[in-house]
Amino acid sequence: MTTAAPAVSLADRTAYEAAVDTALAASTAYYGDGNSALDDPSYDALARAIAEYERAHPDHMRADSPTGKVGGGAAPVGDVAHTVPMLSLDNVFSAEELVKWGASLSRRIGRLVEGGYVPEPKFDGMAVAARYRTGRLDRVVGRGDGHYGEDLSHVIGSIVGLPERLAVDATVEIRGEVLLTREQFEKANEIRIAHKAKPFSNPRNGTAGTLRAKDRPYVIETTFFAYGAVGLDGVDFLRGATHEAVMAQVEALGVQTAASSAVGLRVYATLQEVQAWIEEIQRLRADLPFGIDGVVVKANDFSVQNAAGFGTRHPHWATAYKLPPMQGQTRLLAVEWNVGKTGKIAPRAVLEPVELDGSTVRYATLNNPRFIRELGVQIGDTVVVSKAGDVIPRIESVVVDKRTGEETAVVFPEACPQCGGAVDTSGERWECAEGVNGNCGLLPALKYAVGRDQLDIEGLGGTYLETLVASGAVGDVADLFTLTHQQLAEATNSTRRADTLVQQIEQAKQKPLNRVFCALGIRCTGRTLSKEIARHFSTMDAIRAADVEALATVNKLAPANAPKVAAHLAALGPVIDKLAQAGVNMTEPEEPAKATSGPLTDAFVVVTGGMTGALAGRNRNEMNDLIKAAGGEPSASVSKKTTYLVAGENAGSKLAKAQQLGTKVLTEEEFAAMVADYLS
Ligand code: IVH
Repeated sequence: MTTAAPAVSLADRTAYEAAVDTALAASTAYYGDGNSALDDPSYDALARAIAEYERAHPDHMRADSPTGKVGGGAAPVGDVAHTVPMLSLDNVFSAEELVKWGASLSRRIGRLVEGGYVPEPKFDGMAVAARYRTGRLDRVVGRGDGHYGEDLSHVIGSIVGLPERLAVDATVEIRGEVLLTREQFEKANEIRIAHKAKPFSNPRNGTAGTLRAKDRPYVIETTFFAYGAVGLDGVDFLRGATHEAVMAQVEALGVQTAASSAVGLRVYATLQEVQAWIEEIQRLRADLPFGIDGVVVKANDFSVQNAAGFGTRHPHWATAYKLPPMQGQTRLLAVEWNVGKTGKIAPRAVLEPVELDGSTVRYATLNNPRFIRELGVQIGDTVVVSKAGDVIPRIESVVVDKRTGEETAVVFPEACPQCGGAVDTSGERWECAEGVNGNCGLLPALKYAVGRDQLDIEGLGGTYLETLVASGAVGDVADLFTLTHQQLAEATNSTRRADTLVQQIEQAKQKPLNRVFCALGIRCTGRTLSKEIARHFSTMDAIRAADVEALATVNKLAPANAPKVAAHLAALGPVIDKLAQAGVNMTEPEEPAKATSGPLTDAFVVVTGGMTGALAGRNRNEMNDLIKAAGGEPSASVSKKTTYLVAGENAGSKLAKAQQLGTKVLTEEEFAAMVADYLS
């Protein structure tokens, strides 16, 4: 992993003064309306540069410098004194820095670090201290300046994981982080919109706002994860000589800790193992139900913690390993309008390349014209971009403070960017007025149709299709099935490629109805719905004969979408007739009943990645049928219940999750061997 924060260095005193002003303004905004103009990595980089300059020029240090102050000196300070100061953590940004931290810890205590290290998620929320007196949650206090915090007791009762009563009548102060899970964040914004309040811009701002708000007419549920505990009122309740033991004690009281989070709580003997686990957490990160901005690495043994002690700002026995940002700032260079397979005209942001979560982001979705208007974005604007796993990066907000006056308005298309025809602007998403009858979406529609999960005519890549369309040989999906060897040889410039393609096209004719239907790219349907529709009606004739009402009864098809499916299907009538004439299969094979015995009896099986070898060409539905035929139960996500994960090409987060849970992982070959009798 590389350094996450962009390097900043301050050349002179003027630059230093300006940096302090910027940092103060950012942390005031952060704790004020929760909307800072600086994202976290930029703030961290600035704070580091300020501290570096102050080390070199101690005489220039400003009294109001954010260095050494919890929350950059701007956290709301209340009047409740903390029993033990609530400090912050020092950061490391790479494997090397983590090793250096370990060495300095060892030097400080004068011996090797025994008892191991605990890497915990660095929950991205707000720190609180929860005071339990004789088992009852008496007070919740914010971090404030670390010495005094705000009384936040009004939130008692609305925080998942922070019960009002403990399992036993303990008197103890539990410390941890309050956050909004992604689900709670969505829900909170629905509630806010219903109450005509401005939606939160991100989960952390939402948490800050929710903790602060006293007189809301609605309740927003948040979540708590404990990461520490201290004695209260002189009562010495806590037992255990390690962080791990105390966290187990806290969990037993009924308070949530990292142990019951998706990341879990583990102890490792060496920092090498910790580093490997951090890299694993980074892979899991996008799929976690809550945001993390790093991993906190703590010495597990209290004898090590006590010997290491505290600095003025942070403990020496723990450090925060910051992960590459999921969010960053960059510039909007242009807006492109692309025509999709059903003639939809979708806007896409072209960005100045920015590194997010370990990869370079160049584009982001802009959804639709209304989204652009509501965002108020202009070409040349600095924007906050975020990325979450497989999801297409999105623009979160515009940094209006950074406008120079040079920005220009986004131009909305007056004509279809593909065919120059009229644009239908009546819906939320604009589309080519030629609609499904036009030629506009043809190329994207064909590319989709030949895809792995549809007709699986792998050899017919984008440029060959372009040539075939340009030459007039292909005007719709059905034309693919009447292409001659000569046409294919000319388009691909190779008789060998044409041989393979003729074969693949012949095989495509035998695909089950669900794939043929899917290849049509019918509006509102994809792989799953195509399967449901094909299973429901069994033949293409029956599907075409179905009216809107009949379509609306199909499992998983939203009744509101049934008229759109019917209309698109009717419009494609001539193409479907041509497909049938070309000999393309129009029936769905019987769904194999789940066998009561077989090599996979009682096994829960998840498949991830692309299938090659003996399983090549099988899409997820077909893999699921295979699992059922062999007596197993297919499922979509890895959990504690999963028996096997079959990992194909480019397996990603599911593989990481399985490794984390200790689920048995099978290669495609191993799985194919297990179900060999069912592969016919
Ligand atoms: S331990 C004395 N563990 O990070 C050290 N902190 O930058 C106490 N945080 O104020 C902190 N997850 O708000 C610790 N697993 C975790 C954490 C965590 C998030 C926050 C906490 C703290 C800040 C320090």
